Amino acid sequence: MKVAVFSARRYDRMLLNEANASHGHELVFLEDQLNARTADLAQGCEAVAIFVNDKADKDVLATLAAGGTRLVTTRSTGFNHIDAEAAAALDIAATRVADYSPYSVAEFAVGLLIAVNRKIPRAVTRTRDGNFELDGLMGFDLHGRTVGVVGTGKIGRIFGRIMSGFGCTVLGYDPYPQAEFETYGRYVTADELLAASDIVSLHCPLTEANRHLVNADTLARSKRGGILINTSRGGLVDTEAAVEALKSGQLGGLAIDVYEQEASLFFQDLSTTIIADDVIQRLVSFPNVIVTGHQAFFTREAIGQIMATTLDNITAFARGEPLVNRIEA
Ligand code: NAI
Repeated sequence: MKVAVFSARRYDRMLLNEANASHGHELVFLEDQLNARTADLAQGCEAVAIFVNDKADKDVLATLAAGGTRLVTTRSTGFNHIDAEAAAALDIAATRVADYSPYSVAEFAVGLLIAVNRKIPRAVTRTRDGNFELDGLMGFDLHGRTVGVVGTGKIGRIFGRIMSGFGCTVLGYDPYPQAEFETYGRYVTADELLAASDIVSLHCPLTEANRHLVNADTLARSKRGGILINTSRGGLVDTEAAVEALKSGQLGGLAIDVYEQEASLFFQDLSTTIIADDVIQRLVSFPNVIVTGHQAFFTREAIGQIMATTLDNITAFARGEPLVNRIEA
């Protein structure tokens, strides 16, 4: 099957080509993001493989359908960038990578927490500059603190289990509770979680219903001086409200791997350009903020599974087999 691979980086090319040896698809690699301007590039490709900042909205899907595309598959777990209803209406199947190393993201979230709490990036910058002063680097013990996990799916549960190993009290909020979480954590309401947690970590998908789940109102009701970690999706946080909360000290620290406006920034080197996004520029200027460019998934194990499943999805579609990773409208 001829497959257009959008947002293809060097590692996508290398690993997909390797994994494709046993599938035999014709892969057309495109560095561009999929959007209204680039959708035509997929003309004649029955399948299109995309990534998190590609945009498969109604108009883009209509262009893809007109060009002969019958499958859109995302090389990610999250699928908020695909309009599943529009795809179904156009008779385009949509699939994703429902399962890949959840440890990659959970471990990264823990890393961000420790880095922002103990100010490790600042310390490294200082020692590189010959400055071995400790002033301004004080953090707090995680042991004995309360950690709130919003979304106790695959990643949230591993994160919660790790934090329980640190000696934290682990609280969870999820509309669909999981018995396993209760072996080390306790479910509470969203309000209780915010009020009681020293650290809140987001692990739920982004939907229309939970956009800006963290906003001025919820931040005001959170424990003063707490730390917020977001490795899930940028749209879950009203970033401007977070900036205000950081300025007032209501939010004591923020570490994000995802950002609402990341599509125009992440996965590219902009170091020699002027970045017009004032919100991200303000954020990276705070001493108690860490921003990483959507890399939580980026481990050897996770990427290997993502590429293998992406090709399995395409092969299953080509053979008319059931799509186990189908995104339902
Ligand atoms: P999952 O589907 O196993 O778990 C998600 C959980 O969130 C479910 O238990 C669900 O009931 C819960 N949930 C849904 N809406 C909620 C809400 N409003 N409040 C609280 N909980 C809610 O998903 P998984 O694999 O744990 O992934 C979680 C998210 O992590 C993904 O949706 C994706 O956005 C993000 N992610 C980020 C990556 C990165 O590299 N930064 C990589 C992989 C995933």
